[in-house]
Amino acid sequence: MPQVRFMTLARHIIEGEKKHPEATGELSKLLSDLSLAAKVISLEVNKAGLVDILGFTGDNNVHGEKVKKLDMFAHDMITRAMDHGGHLCVMASEEEEDIIHIPSRYKVGKYVLLFDPLDGSSNIDANISIGTIFSIYRRITPDGKPGQLEDCLQQGLNQVAAGYIVYGSSTIFVYTAGEGVHGFTLDPSFGEFLLSHENIRIPKKSTIYSINEGNYLYWHPGLKKYIKYLQEEDAKTGRPYSTRYVGSMVADIHRNLLYGGIFMYPADHRHPNGKLRLMYECNPMSFIIEAAGGRSTNGKQRILEIQPKKLHEKTPIFIGSEEDVLKVEEFMAKEEVSNEIYLSSIT
Ligand code: AHG
Ligand code: MN
Ligand code: MN
Repeated sequence: MPQVRFMTLARHIIEGEKKHPEATGELSKLLSDLSLAAKVISLEVNKAGLVDILGFTGDNNVHGEKVKKLDMFAHDMITRAMDHGGHLCVMASEEEEDIIHIPSRYKVGKYVLLFDPLDGSSNIDANISIGTIFSIYRRITPDGKPGQLEDCLQQGLNQVAAGYIVYGSSTIFVYTAGEGVHGFTLDPSFGEFLLSHENIRIPKKSTIYSINEGNYLYWHPGLKKYIKYLQEEDAKTGRPYSTRYVGSMVADIHRNLLYGGIFMYPADHRHPNGKLRLMYECNPMSFIIEAAGGRSTNGKQRILEIQPKKLHEKTPIFIGSEEDVLKVEEFMAKEEVSNEIYLSSIT
């Protein structure tokens, strides 16, 4: 008979905080508020294909309200769930140019929230897994005042927690507060996230690589050689590797976290800084993967050590199973790079 354990996300977070006597419980409440937003977004994602059938016309729904694109819906839902909890001093979202202030009628707290409300949004209409990614920091400006841009522009190393939610064949909430990475699957019948993946560890070496190979022509020569190396036959090292690329970072990383794998979005001639955003995608994913025993770099520097200069800045990323990431770094370091593009993007 399977072991029956009802460990909800809320209880797990509280028990984690109890191990730290100095903790105030604020982080627990913040994460619980986020899980509520995740449930609402999950419901809406599951209805996505019904919009036309249920009589929504053009840009308006049956109430005459504008139908929001799902990524804007997710952005609004998170902002609205999080602005009045009293735990945050400022937020920033991939969908908004500037930082998001806490309305002055609400208490400001000591935490900072950065998020990608809907990752992989080009996959929505095809019923392919998408997700939400979040990152939490402690503020560095004085308590009691509105948060500032500098509270958001911290090195990834300073994160106190990070996580993601995948809306896939089921909805799963994965988070770390620095000590272990844990996954919770949403039971849709009673609306609770239940512990399903305790203390996830990413395999040290894998046989999976995830990259948009259509960009091959524009890659760093070391990366081209690395991918060819993965495609060679060698039973001892598990080659050839398999390619798996969903096109939703959150889904690709989730699979690689569980099965082992390396995910790459490199710099190339057309994307001199890669495509993915440091604050909303690369930092939180790097914090999670490192907490699970993996590695993450931009090719030259650990992602978590990058000092951000702009809210929406991008970075190349190589992330996943430790030995695989070390290998791509080795290949790239070996190649003479004559093209300025690569240098400017990864220094
Ligand atoms: P978003 O939907 O938040 O803009 O992110 C999309 C990102 C990421 O999820 C994915 O890994 C990447 O774009 C895919 O890019 P390509 O289509 O260039 O491969
Ligand atoms: Mn994204
Ligand atoms: Mn997005």
